[in-house]
Amino acid sequence: MARPHIEFIQTQVLPWKTLGEDSSRPGALAKALSYDADSKAVSVIMKYPPGWSLPESHYLNSDEELYVLNGALWVGSVEYCKGDYAHLPAGMPRPSMNSPKGASVITFHEGEHRTILGDAPVGLYDPARLIAKIESEKMSWGQPSDPVVAAIANNAGRKLLREDPKTGERTWLLQFGPDNPKKMTHGRTETHPVVEEVFLLDGEISMPMGTLKPGAYFWRPANIEHGPVGTLKGLFGLFRCKGGPLTTVWSESETPIDWAPAHNPILPPQLQPLATAPYDTALPY
Ligand SMILES: [Fe+2]
Repeated sequence: MARPHIEFIQTQVLPWKTLGEDSSRPGALAKALSYDADSKAVSVIMKYPPGWSLPESHYLNSDEELYVLNGALWVGSVEYCKGDYAHLPAGMPRPSMNSPKGASVITFHEGEHRTILGDAPVGLYDPARLIAKIESEKMSWGQPSDPVVAAIANNAGRKLLREDPKTGERTWLLQFGPDNPKKMTHGRTETHPVVEEVFLLDGEISMPMGTLKPGAYFWRPANIEHGPVGTLKGLFGLFRCKGGPLTTVWSESETPIDWAPAHNPILPPQLQPLATAPYDTALPY
């Protein structure tokens, strides 16, 4: 079974779990955002407590993507700080991992992920697929790939972090300036042929099932019509598309944007009790 439709959850309401010795990162805390029971792929916020370390030389048996939310994490001799991104392929040698001062890192594992000590089998690691480190805060903003988005969004910018040459899957940062609700009263709905996954780093998104605040997360399966969306505060988010390149079919007609939507998210049964759970809005996730 593929991952369930989650649209959306404030990650602040999700529980932290301390990972045990049987996990890939013993002693770290994890907050699972979405999970594929078949492939074991997972999107998760990792919290590495100060002094955390995995001192043995090891590798992981699936790809890992990471984006640092706060603090600093070392993988071997590479330090990842806030805003840094990496795509570390399966089998990549990792002399160690540690976080002397602690770190929070949004992490995407593309399958079952076991920390295996020693060297990976020959052929597992493909260095051509490595993105060792992107300091995204030093990148300049480019144009969104979709011309409709570029035209309608206020001050839209995109930083492309990764595009898989084989699958067309992408990871990117996107920002919009605030909309003027008096001018922007209507919008088109949109549909993508692939999964759209978003973690809202800052700002706000209004859409029919509610208003996403910083720390909001969604995993929207392919071919689900959504929107129209708007943002009163602007937005800054980490986006991924899974299953291929993200293209958009826009509706012909426009419908009114709901700038104060009722909170009515789409959630799998196990998350429904958390849908309206109160949370500390001072917490980022
Ligand atoms: Fe979309």
